[in-house]
Amino acid sequence: MIHVLFVCLGNICRSPMAEAVFRNLTEQEGMKDQFRIDSAGTGRWHEGKPPHQDTRRMLDQHNVSYDGMTARQVNVADWDEFDYIIAMDRQNYSDLEALRSFDEGVVVAQFMDYVHDSDMEDVPDPYFTGNFEEVYELIEKGCENLLADIKEAYKL
Ligand code: 4NP
Repeated sequence: MIHVLFVCLGNICRSPMAEAVFRNLTEQEGMKDQFRIDSAGTGRWHEGKPPHQDTRRMLDQHNVSYDGMTARQVNVADWDEFDYIIAMDRQNYSDLEALRSFDEGVVVAQFMDYVHDSDMEDVPDPYFTGNFEEVYELIEKGCENLLADIKEAYKL
């Protein structure tokens, strides 16, 4: 079982979108049982809340389920539970780095590393930009490449 955690700031816009899209992709490829997929925020303002209404709207439009998903804050125990921790922007990455050293056998990466045809280094925060469509497109591309990388690494 491969454990993948997506991390953003609030855990209501970007990382739950990535969690839902990535889970959907593993289901489509018949690999659902080989993955545990989750998301968390570096902040805890929205703990217990479902994804943002516009994240839900984008997922609904694409027939991607977010059933039962609620926000939570990332914590140091996540390093022991997850094989991949994927930060949605550079600030999330440095906040994770401040929380716990990365040198513990976990792949900690930035989401935009998996979006090959873009110069952007961050998944823009739609909580502030309002552009959930742009974020969905980036997340779709990145999730496909992330899954391809994992399949190669684990020879799936
Ligand atoms: P997210 O967006 O990190 O993509 O979930 C945000 C959601 C809420 C807040 C900031 C970013 N907030 O400040 O409440």
